[in-house]
Parts: sequence; C-alpha cells; structure tokens
Amino acid sequence: MRLIYHVMLVAVLCVRGFPLGTMTNETPADPYIFTTDLLPSDPRFMPPLANGLVGWQVYSDIMHMGGVYNGEGGDCHRANLPCPLAVRMEIEHDEMAGHLQHSYTLDTHIGIFSHTLRTANVMASQFLYAHRHHANLLVMEVLLVRQGTSQEPIVAKLNSTFSPQSDDIVFHSEACYRGGSYIQGQTTKPEFPGEACPSVHIIWTPIPTSLSLLAHQAQSRWGFLVAMAGDKESAQAHYDTGLELMADGNLRPTHIRAWEEMWAGSKLDLTGPEQLSQAVIGCMFYLLSAFPSLHEAADHFGGVSPGGLSNGGPEQDYRGHVFWDQDTWMYPSIALFYPHLARAVLEYRVRTMDGAKHNAEQQGYKGLKFPWESAVSGREVCPEDVYREQEIHINGDVILAFQQYLYLTRDLSLFMEGRGSEVIWGVAEYWVSRVTWRAEDQSYHILGVMPPDEYYYNVNDSVYTNTVAKMSLQFAVELAALLRYPAPAEWQTVADKIKIVFDQELKYHPEYDGYKKGQFVKQADTVMLGYPLGLPMTPEVRRNDLELYESVTNPAGPAMTWSMFAVGWLELSEVERAQGLLKKCFKNIQGPFQVWSESSDGSGAVNFLTGMGGFLQAVLFGYTGFRVQKDCLAFAPLVPDEISQLCIRGVSYLGNKMDWLVRGQEVHIILLEGAKHAGPTKPCALQVVLKNSGTKMPLIPGKPTTFSRQPGLVCKVDGASLCWPL
Ligand SMILES: *[C@@H]1O[C@H](CO)[C@@H](O)[C@H](O)[C@H]1NC(C)=O
Ligand SMILES: *[C@@H]1O[C@H](CO)[C@@H](O)[C@H](O)[C@H]1NC(C)=O
Repeated sequence: MRLIYHVMLVAVLCVRGFPLGTMTNETPADPYIFTTDLLPSDPRFMPPLANGLVGWQVYSDIMHMGGVYNGEGGDCHRANLPCPLAVRMEIEHDEMAGHLQHSYTLDTHIGIFSHTLRTANVMASQFLYAHRHHANLLVMEVLLVRQGTSQEPIVAKLNSTFSPQSDDIVFHSEACYRGGSYIQGQTTKPEFPGEACPSVHIIWTPIPTSLSLLAHQAQSRWGFLVAMAGDKESAQAHYDTGLELMADGNLRPTHIRAWEEMWAGSKLDLTGPEQLSQAVIGCMFYLLSAFPSLHEAADHFGGVSPGGLSNGGPEQDYRGHVFWDQDTWMYPSIALFYPHLARAVLEYRVRTMDGAKHNAEQQGYKGLKFPWESAVSGREVCPEDVYREQEIHINGDVILAFQQYLYLTRDLSLFMEGRGSEVIWGVAEYWVSRVTWRAEDQSYHILGVMPPDEYYYNVNDSVYTNTVAKMSLQFAVELAALLRYPAPAEWQTVADKIKIVFDQELKYHPEYDGYKKGQFVKQADTVMLGYPLGLPMTPEVRRNDLELYESVTNPAGPAMTWSMFAVGWLELSEVERAQGLLKKCFKNIQGPFQVWSESSDGSGAVNFLTGMGGFLQAVLFGYTGFRVQKDCLAFAPLVPDEISQLCIRGVSYLGNKMDWLVRGQEVHIILLEGAKHAGPTKPCALQVVLKNSGTKMPLIPGKPTTFSRQPGLVCKVDGASLCWPL
C-alpha cells in the first residue's frame, strides 16, 4: 500500500508553457516514489541519504563526513562515524488489533525515507533525511496517529544499534549541549605523516527507547537532530540552527524547499517505460545527493567517490577515494545544469594541486600529476603501484572537466582568481615531460601506461591516454592565448605530434600500440574517443570502433561501459541498437530503491555513482546529441520510439537556463526568464541555428521556440557582445 500517493498526469510533466501532450485517463504511479513493503535482503541496497557533506545509509550505525579520512597513504579511508539515528521503529502489537502492515518509501521529490507501520489502532511513521539546505544536519522524525476508536495508550519502540564509538576516532564525551549529547574526537592517523588529523564533533538529541501516545491523545510528533562539524563552535551553531528551525516548524520545510529548488533547475522527465523513467530519476536523485547545497559556498567540498559519501569505509567501496569517475563520469551531467556545482568539483582539484605536484616529482616528471586515487591532500592514495604509476589518463580527464566548464559558462574567474589556470599549465608541463620523442616516425609517444581498460598495463601509446593528453595541451594553448599567458612552444608541438594510433587497413583505432583486433577488453576505453573526447573521425571509423569493441568487451564489466556504446550508436542514428545496450545497465540497478551495484551480479561498489553518471550521459548527451563545444552547444535529438516525450529542464548555457522538450518529430526550447542558478556570468542572448536549413531563431525568454527534429546548435546571437566578463 502506498503511504504517499502523488497523483500525476503524464500531460503535465512539462509545465512552464510547453504545449501539452495528449491527456490520458490513467493516473500512473509517481515514478519519483520508490516504495516497498519488503526491505532488500542485502543491506548494501538500502537507500543512501546524503547531501554532499554528510552521507549515511538508512538504518546503518555508521555515517561519513566529506573530507574526513583516517589512515595513511593507501590505507586512508572514510572515517566511520557512529550514527545516532541507527534506530528501527517497532510497535507493540496486540494480535487482536489485526494485521501489522509495514511500508518503506523513499520519496525522491523531497529526499525523505519513511517507514510506516499500521494496525487497526495506530499509524506510526519514522522519517529520515540528510538536510538538503543545512548540510551539517541529519534528522529523524516520528509521528504517531491513533486510528479507530481505541483509547488505550500506544507505544512505539525505538530499537537502536548506536554506540558512540568508532574504530577510526577515539571519541570523548563532552558536557551536554542544550539537552543534546555531545562527543568529539580526532582521527587516529593522518593521510601522510605531518598532515593534520581532522576532528569531528557530533551533537544529537538523545533518542529514548520508546515513544507513547497517552490514553485519549489523538496524535503526536517528535523530532531528533544530529549536528556534526569539524569544530565545537560550528557543531553547536548547527545544532542551534536545527533547534530553532524545529521550534518554528521550519526544519522539514527548508529541507523540502531545497530539494524542490534543486529539481526545478535540473529535471529529466521521460514518458516511456516505467523502468527507464525510474532509473533516470534514481540516478539524478543519488547524483544530486552527492553534491553540495546550491546555497553554500562549495569551498569545503571533498569530491565524489564511486560509492558516494554513504560508503567508503575501511576496505569498502574504494575507501571513499576520488577517481576519474568524478570528472569523466559524474561531472558532465551535473555541469550541464549547475555551474556552481561543477565549480565545486573543479575547486576540489585546485585545492589538491600541492599533492599533484608532489606526485609528479615522485614519478620524476614536471608539473602536476593528479592522483589515480585522491583524498584530501591530492597526494596519491592508491594502494597499488601499477595504477598510481600508469593510469595517468586521469590528468587529461581533469582538464577536460575544466574545459567543459569554460565552454558552458565562459567564467574566467575560476581560471584567474580561482587558480584554475595553474591546473591547466601544470598538467601541460607534465605531459611535455612525460612524452618520448622518436626520430623514426617523428612523433611523441607515451610509453608504459595502463589505459582505462585495466586489463592491460605497460603498453605504449594508449589511444585514449594520448588523445586526452593532446586535448589538454591544446586547451592549455587556447587558454594561454585568452589570458595572455606566455605558453611554452612545446605545448603546441607535442599536441601536434603526439602519436594517435590508427589501423589504416582495418580503419579503426587499436586500443594501444600493438593491440590485436579481438583482444578482450574490460570496459569502455577506445569508444570514448568519439564521446566524450570528440576526436574527429568519419562515421565509418566510429562504427568500426563501436562494433569491434562491443564484441570483445567483458559483458560483466563495470556499469558505465554500455552507456558509452549507447551514445556512440545514437551518433550513428542506430537508436534501437543504442537502446538495447543502454538497457544492459538495468541489471546493475538493485531494487526497490534503485541502488546501483558496480557489477551486474550485485557485487562491487555500491551505490555506484559512476554507472549512474554514465547512464545519465547516455540520456542527456545521447538522446539529445548535446555536445559542449568551444562556441556552441551542439544538438542532434534522437529518441527511441518507446519514449514518447523527453523533457529536460534547466540546461545551463552561458548564463541562461532553458528547458528542452523532444516529442515525436518536434523539438521545443524555452529560455527561462530570471532563472536561478544559471551560472556566474550574465546571460548571453542566444539563438538556435539549424544545420540543414541554416535557419536562425533567436531564443526569447519565456517564449517557446519550436522546430522539427534535426541537428543544430545553440550559440550567441550574432553581434551580441562577447560574453567574457569585462
Ligand atoms: C533490536 O534490533 C536488533 C537488530 O536488528 C534485533 O536483533 C533485536 O531483536 C531487536 N530488539 C528488540 C527488543 O526488538
Ligand atoms: C614500448 O616501447 C619501448 C621503447 O620503445 C619498448 O622497449 C617496449 O618494448 C614497448 N612495449 C610494448 C609493449 O610494445
């Protein structure tokens, strides 16, 4: 039975002035609400609740805080913190009162998990959330409502598994603070000798073992807070805020409003198979949960790890380290909506530059080498040598994220005051020192690497690695020109003469020098030359790459792989083939809360945000054909027949936000008036240019622009003032 039943008409999915679709009489279940009467048997598939600072999995007795790691080097992992909300509610249940019904619901509209128990006498609900606006707060609420005519006392038991201890932190009890219990402590081992050990202060409302409705009392509600921060003053201030909001009845409303605002500016609704629609919503929800609030300065953001903040303790989910998964897989879908959150990711990399410099020196090279696995310092924390030394494509992946940001926003402040340019120069210097010149073929080579396909190492000229290196050098030259920075000549020379392996006979890209057609591959690698790298190639070569690697890629490989094939086939207008590949991801989605496992058999990291990021890119960049280019946002919409309508709200471009609707043969775009969170620069006047006819149509705020489905681009209106900040 559904606790919360939102009635929704397909026809009103897209508001804000789009022409309405056909009305239906059905009121389908709201795909934003994941509900069940039976919890998953594997506790790893319980829903994570997170807000970019705090992460927790429902009922778990541990939680994590962004940037709080314990352990040295490769052993460094998210510090397990005890979670006072590790409480299950039970009801003293009289058999006479009839059947006891449970329901568990994750409402992704508002980021609240609830457990409701019903008997003939009572409805008892426990609500749990990680506050979306006040990120230092976790909240539990309990609501008891008398049902029927009984006047007996009603008791809800709260069974807690919490104990105020941790293997990672020696906690000390402090005096109660405003009725709250208070512990604080420091992690035991720093990331590197000499680095500081972070402190954690936790204040929480003590939770009794039971709550009661007295005889004749109709209903009652209780609230419990957990506030956490890195120091006493801050933890107390957050606890104060929580108490005030609760007293004013604003604790939940501020949380809900923050989620509503987030969704309003980044929404993806498709009318089609329920499984697909729910998958898209689940991915957006969990990905947004991994990022900071839109209201905060994001200068403490600790990055996103493959399993998110809820996971990543000792020996688990890559220990909460940050990989290319963040920059290549998760970032693009977020950057398309929220420049502010994109910037948080880039600033995380800026803050870790000292560590990256150290890594480059350790390897004997110049400039910056971002670690294969990153924590707080940016020094390498990957426990295994081969990845840390050889999987160097990460350096180019980081740069691509900066480049996309510049093209989407034209915000140079990140590169100047924000020191982003130092990242670009540092990586360019690294590549220049890392390449080897061979006179025989008059080219530069990158020797001894592990490509994204981790089945191979010590190979030369990984085609992905060399391409991403070439692109980061080209971007360095371009940015240097823009900032009047004297770029060393080698940046251009190396970019021009770096070897990009290609088989002239078979007309495809071998994965590396010496790769033999047919060799088994772990995951998406060479197919990423087409997307996201955008290496120019003929459709014939693109097709050959896709076909060749599709047939040799491990079917049980990690979840993000198939989405890249899907994007490729969409480029070639093979929409059904794309759809078939995209749907392979469904095996990685573990019900009922749409939690992703890294592998399709349920093993590997959870909640696998990398796979979700890939899946969203297949929808956001695949179906739409969006490509972020230097002077435009290109598009080429193509959706499978089973999707009758695709609506993407809040696409951010050059200080604007716009909604896109693709329905059948029609495309509608609305530029939003006075949109929030559109980015740091003032809006540019935009136009649509259609490829076939060359027709130009200005985008006028508030007024839909409609055209028949075809490729084109969105760019500045001719003659409009340059959008670079003055
Ligand atoms: C409380 O929960 C634990 C663990 O889930 C369980 O073993 C125990 O029986 C529960 N206690 C009560 C009193 O229900
Ligand atoms: C890579 O290049 C080096 C130097 O030319 C060579 O010695 C080595 O055998 C090559 N490795 C492979 C796997 O081809």
